[in-house]
Amino acid sequence: MSQDRQLTVVAFAGSLRRASYNRALLRAAQEMVPPQMTLSILEIDGIPLFNEDVEQQGDPEPVARFKQAIREADGLLIATPEYNHGVPGVTKNAIDWASRPPRQAVLDGKPVAILGASPGITGTARGQSQLRQAFEFTNSYCMPQPEILVYQAHQKFDAEGRLTDEKTRAFLGKFLLAFREWIQRLAG
Ligand SMILES: Cc1cc2nc3c(=O)[nH]c(=O)nc-3n(C[C@H](O)[C@H](O)[C@H](O)COP(=O)(O)O)c2cc1C
Repeated sequence: MSQDRQLTVVAFAGSLRRASYNRALLRAAQEMVPPQMTLSILEIDGIPLFNEDVEQQGDPEPVARFKQAIREADGLLIATPEYNHGVPGVTKNAIDWASRPPRQAVLDGKPVAILGASPGITGTARGQSQLRQAFEFTNSYCMPQPEILVYQAHQKFDAEGRLTDEKTRAFLGKFLLAFREWIQRLAG
């Protein structure tokens, strides 16, 4: 791939909460996206619970739009919360829709990166780790390093949801550069 080509990345937060730290983290990423990369945030609140009977009738419109956006993108970025030491249903449900049909899915061979924020001290470590397992089955190329675990998130965002912690902002910048390089490397 030409190193000069503009890369398109789509992102979603695995939280439907209006003041979600994870969506705020994606907004911060959008502000500091490196050159030759664009980042669009997808809203997933219209995606229904996965049901194979519904799928057989054809993807519902929000699902079709979600899958098409991933298909057209060079990479997928996911900011996931951690619920009960695992991946929240909202995150997993979106991935389950996008994983279909197996082996021809929009996730097949797609470069993916995961990040996450939580008010706790482990910063979504277990949730992220579990999500990586799903990408083994979907044959997606999940960036192994660097990892971003935004712990004690309530101290790192202000009341408007702006990422104010300078160390986290610097690390997020490096993470985005690494993801750009990961996508370029996979594209050959
Ligand atoms: C059902 C539930 C389970 C949770 N379990 C965890 C957990 O296992 N680990 C953790 O760090 N935070 C946990 N939390 C707290 C979330 O990290 C917190 O609500 C966070 O703000 C959710 O992400 P969001 O801000 O993007 O919505 C849990 C919250 C809920 C509602």
